[in-house]
Amino acid sequence: MEQYIIKGGKPLMGEVTISGYKNAALGIIAAAIMTDETVKIENVPKIKDIDILLQAIEKIGAKVDRINRNTVKINGSKISSLKVDFDFVRKIRASYYLVGSLLGKYKNAQVAFPGGCNIGSRPFDQHIKGFEALGAKVKIEHGSICAHADELKGGHIYFDCTSVGATINTMLAACLADGQTILENAAKEPHVVDVANFLNSMGANIKGAGTDIIRIKGVPKLHGSEYSIIPDQIEAGTFMFAAAASQGDVLVKNVIPKHLEAFTAKLLEIGAEVQEFDDSVRVRVSGRLGNTHVKTLVYPGFLTDMQPQMTTLLSVSKGTSIVTENIFENRFKYVDELTRMGANIKVESNTAIIEGVDKLTGAIVNAPDLRGGAALVLAGLMAEGFTTVENVEYIERGYENFEYKMQQLGADIIKVDSEDTKAIRKFKLKVS
Ligand code: EPZ
Repeated sequence: MEQYIIKGGKPLMGEVTISGYKNAALGIIAAAIMTDETVKIENVPKIKDIDILLQAIEKIGAKVDRINRNTVKINGSKISSLKVDFDFVRKIRASYYLVGSLLGKYKNAQVAFPGGCNIGSRPFDQHIKGFEALGAKVKIEHGSICAHADELKGGHIYFDCTSVGATINTMLAACLADGQTILENAAKEPHVVDVANFLNSMGANIKGAGTDIIRIKGVPKLHGSEYSIIPDQIEAGTFMFAAAASQGDVLVKNVIPKHLEAFTAKLLEIGAEVQEFDDSVRVRVSGRLGNTHVKTLVYPGFLTDMQPQMTTLLSVSKGTSIVTENIFENRFKYVDELTRMGANIKVESNTAIIEGVDKLTGAIVNAPDLRGGAALVLAGLMAEGFTTVENVEYIERGYENFEYKMQQLGADIIKVDSEDTKAIRKFKLKVS
C-alpha cells in the first residue's frame, strides 16, 4: 500500500503549475464520443479518474489515442455497445456522464448505477428528472441506469437543487434533441461552462452556461473539435492553502484568478497576503493566521471541495472558527485524523467548530477521500515531526504528480510503499 511520508515545518517556496481540471475533463471526455469525427483534447490531467473513464469509452468501442501525457484524441464513430460496466462506475462516479452522452447520441444507454461514496449518498434523481423531461424513459434495473427514448425533444427543467452533475448530464442529452431545452436552477461552476464551451466547439448551441438558466437549441449532429481544458480550480486552491499552511511564499501558475475568488477572499480575511496576476496568484504568509467562519455553497460561493483544506488551515489559526458543510452530508471524516494530530475540532451535524491550537504533531493518518486526503497532506506540512498519510490512491485520483509538485516547492515528502522500511528509514535520516 503506497503512502506519503511528510516531515513538517518547511515553508513552501517557489512556483507550481496547475494541471487541467479533473471535473471538467470527465464531462468533456463523455461529450467527446457524441460526434463520429475525431476530437483532440489538450491539458487533460494525467490522473487515475481520467484513465478509468478513457478505458470505459474504449471498452464500448471508442478510439482513444494518447498523443502525449496531457493530450488525447477520441473518435466515437465505432462505438459498438451502449452498456457501461459496473467495474468502471464503481471506480469513478462520473462515468454516469456516459448516460447523458450515449442517450443524447444513440437514444439509448445502460450504465451501472453509481454507488454512494465516502462523502455522502450522492443521489441521481435530478439527472433522471432531466432525461425524462426530454422524453426519455429511465429505469434502474439490476444495478444499472437504463435510459431509452424513441426521440428526444427539448424540455423545460427546473432542478429541485443545484447539481453540477445533473446540469452537465442533461446538457449532454439535450444538445442533439429536437427543439429548445431550458435548464433552470442550473449549476454555474466553471467546469459546467467548460463542458458547454467544448460542446459549442463541436457545433452545439448552448447559451447561458455559467448562469442559472441555460438554453440549449438541439442541432442535427456534432463535429470534431480541438479543445484545451481549463485549469483545476480545486488543485489551485489546494496549493494556495498549502502555501498558507506552511507559512510559505508560492506563485500558483496556470490559473484563472476569478475561479479562485472565494478562496482568495478567505485567505485575505485570515491574514494571508494574496496577489493576483493574469494567470497566476501568489500566496505569502508569515506569522499566525486568524480565524473566520465559512459556509460551503455552490459556485461562486466557497466550494465544498475546498472545505477540508480550509478546516485544516483553521485548525492552527488563532481563535475559534466555524465551518459549515451545506452540500454533502458526510464530508468531515478527515477531522478524526486531524484530531490524532492534535487538532481541537468538534463536529456537530454539518458544522465543525474549530479551536485553533498552537501546533499539530505528526501521526499516522488515513485519507478518507480525495479532498480529505489532500487536507491531511497540508496538515503534515505544518505538523511538528513526521506524518504518514495512508490510502494515497484517493489523492492521486484528483491531483496530478501531487508529491512531485510539493517536492518542487521544497516540501520534505516522499511516496513510498508501506513495506519499504529501508526507503522510509533513508528518508527520515535525510530530512532529520
Ligand atoms: C461534482 O459532484 C463534483 N464531481 C464533486 O467533486 C463536487 O464536490 C460537487 O460537484 C459539488 O461541487 C465531479 O464533478 C465529478 P452535485 P456532483 O450533483 O455532480 C445533491 C471532487 O472532490 N444532488 O453538484 O455529484 C447532492 O446530494 C468531487 O472532485 C441531488 O440531490 O455534485 C449534493 O447535496 C467530490 N440529486 C448536491 O446536490 C441529484 O440528482 C450537489 O451535488 C444530484 C445531486
